[in-house]
Amino acid sequence: MSTIMILNGPNLNLLGQREPEQYGHETLADVEAMCKAEAAKHGYDVDFRQSNHEGVLVDAIHEAGQLIKAGKLLGVVFNPGAYTHTSIALHDAIKGAEVPVVEVHISNVHAREAFRHHSYISPCAVGIVIGMGVQGYVLGMQGLLNKVAK
Ligand code: DQA
Repeated sequence: MSTIMILNGPNLNLLGQREPEQYGHETLADVEAMCKAEAAKHGYDVDFRQSNHEGVLVDAIHEAGQLIKAGKLLGVVFNPGAYTHTSIALHDAIKGAEVPVVEVHISNVHAREAFRHHSYISPCAVGIVIGMGVQGYVLGMQGLLNKVAK
């Protein structure tokens, strides 16, 4: 069985308690359960991760690249949190490791502060889901399956 990695960046461990007017009331554990249920429908497993540390996220993308080359992983649905707007290292990791990434944001970042309007991830993403709440993870998985699965 192949796997889809769901990768979450900083502060997403606080989902459910953090700014619920932006991010809703579901927790990251709820998101994991949703993703696992969706993956199972398509015969896939989920490797669900969260880190508050940029380097750990870079390492996860590198690991994803290896797993893809070994035929064990389809790609990554990635909510990079605030690193979206700052991280050239994550941009370079996605390109360097040749990982198909769907970028997901729970909130509509374009309706928020100007500093959230730029993404270093979007130019190297195969697709983007923005502002659809936590359902965006499921939509991102569907998009990844449509674009990448053979
Ligand atoms: C976010 C949007 C980012 O701007 C923010 O820093 C986050 C969450 C979202 O899912 O809407 O941490 O990626």
